[in-house]
Amino acid sequence: MTLIRCVLAPLRQQISIRTSRLSTRTFSQTTRISSPKVFALNNGKKIPAIGFGTFQDPDQQEEAVCRALQLGLRLIDTARVYDVEPQVGKGIKKSGIPREDIFLATKLWCNDYHPDDVERGLDESLRDLDTPYVDLLLMHYPVTFKRGAERFPRDADGKMLLGETTYVNTWRAMEGLLKGGKVKNIGISNFSKGEVQKLLDQGSVVPAVHQMEVHPYLQQKAFNEWLSSKGIHVIQFSPLGNMNDFYRQTGWSKDIAHHIPRVIDHPVLKSIGDKYNKSPVQVALAWAVNSGRTVIPKSTIEWQIRENVEADFELSEEDLAKIGELDLKARFNDPGMDYGWRLYSDLEGTDGAVDGKTH
Ligand SMILES: NC(=O)c1ccc[n+]([C@@H]2O[C@H](COP(=O)([O-])OP(=O)(O)OC[C@H]3O[C@@H](n4cnc5c(N)ncnc54)[C@H](OP(=O)(O)O)[C@@H]3O)[C@@H](O)[C@H]2O)c1
Repeated sequence: MTLIRCVLAPLRQQISIRTSRLSTRTFSQTTRISSPKVFALNNGKKIPAIGFGTFQDPDQQEEAVCRALQLGLRLIDTARVYDVEPQVGKGIKKSGIPREDIFLATKLWCNDYHPDDVERGLDESLRDLDTPYVDLLLMHYPVTFKRGAERFPRDADGKMLLGETTYVNTWRAMEGLLKGGKVKNIGISNFSKGEVQKLLDQGSVVPAVHQMEVHPYLQQKAFNEWLSSKGIHVIQFSPLGNMNDFYRQTGWSKDIAHHIPRVIDHPVLKSIGDKYNKSPVQVALAWAVNSGRTVIPKSTIEWQIRENVEADFELSEEDLAKIGELDLKARFNDPGMDYGWRLYSDLEGTDGAVDGKTH
């Protein structure tokens, strides 16, 4: 059913746009009319407050991206390493939403960090996404892996082989891409405060965005304030915390993810949601947007995507404060031990990584 709607949608939209030129706008039932909330980046460009994540479920991503766009989302977040860029590109085309209305973000993977590889890495993403440019290119982690086709290059003992370049050199190469028009904004992901500071000291462009794990259980208040003071906009990944089964099954996080209620079951988020006639998931997303951050929840289920689209509503100061008390400093995404790089070294939520509990 979704498939049929996604195929028909571009046609419906053309009809409705033609109609709108003649008289009133008559959009199809599945097309949401809205002006999604946006935030300004440090270069004056705009980024939507609510977007769409594409990690996992590769077979469903084409339809999911198409559906998300038709329901009103205008930010799509993907990554080279998710192996879904072709599906994302097709989903965008199928949606019928003009490319220039979409904020498309992808991430360079760690085996393409040598400055001589950065543009080729981007070109491969552009080819698969079937687009001449991305709105945002992120460095996925501050970790550089050995150059070459192997995404996760390991030695005979399974230990990750690190690269010889540094994330500062990679960043400088990314800065160069801004001149060519293939990239509108550049940013980083999964950096510690010290690593961001090093880029500020040694780079010439302030990152437009830091994409990092933030949710009610890992609020990173001081780091968020510091990033904001530097003009770096935050995109919260995994904005629903341990809702993602991946964290409940993966070695590095399953111990903690299983001992904390899922966001959807949290009594405080539920009682706040009841007041606004919203779900606990919508409350978690609205908390982020009310705090000036972008969210990129992932879902392949239509009613869930719809809920997420409708998560931009105003929470009272009192309710924001209540959510502020839910912080457990619980970090679910920390592959540092596997990658051979101490991630988030000066940030909250890394105690488990120190004594190995989250791995
Ligand atoms: N930069 C990085 O290193 C990094 C790391 C992780 C993630 N990300 C990005 O962030 C995106 C989101 O993070 P995530 O996928 O880890 O987790 P998430 O968006 O916080 O949670 C996804 C989970 O929540 C469920 N869900 C979504 N909306 C829901 C709703 N309204 N009601 C109930 N359940 C709902 C989904 O269900 P279904 O799957 O059943 O639809 C899925 O299991 C990723 O897709 C990716 O684009 C980036």
